[in-house]
Amino acid sequence: MTVLDIARMGAQVLRTPAERVADPTAPEIAQLVADMKETMAAAGGIGIAAPQVRVPLRVAVFGVPEERTEDGVGLPLTVLINPEWEPLGPEMEEAYEGCLSVPGMTGSVPRYTRIAYRGAGLDGATIERVAEGYHARVVQHELDHLDGILYPQRMKDLSTFAYTEELRRELGPEAELEDVE
Ligand code: NI
Repeated sequence: MTVLDIARMGAQVLRTPAERVADPTAPEIAQLVADMKETMAAAGGIGIAAPQVRVPLRVAVFGVPEERTEDGVGLPLTVLINPEWEPLGPEMEEAYEGCLSVPGMTGSVPRYTRIAYRGAGLDGATIERVAEGYHARVVQHELDHLDGILYPQRMKDLSTFAYTEELRRELGPEAELEDVE
């Protein structure tokens, strides 16, 4: 496994919709996913999308830490290939997000509270889930990467766009700002 270079905001690959994977079970996709996991762990992220490692394919990896869920049950690391999603209802909620491709910064982003999503796993089998809250937020953030969208483009109030260090000075170390995806 290899730790790959992470593209940052401004890179063309982050602004371009990614291409569908022809065969989710191909060995090169398994290799890509292994490298993405390694890169994500090295950077301290909880999710990563292939365009963030400069590969323009519709592949995302994410997990939800158990301390971020209301029932204390985390979501194990999930690989999603050629995913699709839709909102289940119009409700949205705001929360701070961070991104490995926008290092050192954070901003408040509205996301749908409840969604359905599906995609293929590395074995080619379909994964289909309903997600709420933080889980739903992580999925929307990652799948946006596959459409060439970064979280600042989803923000409604740019006055909340901030350097994480500055905001933490004001809000204290416990503030939930630093999840990087
Ligand atoms: Ni991101």
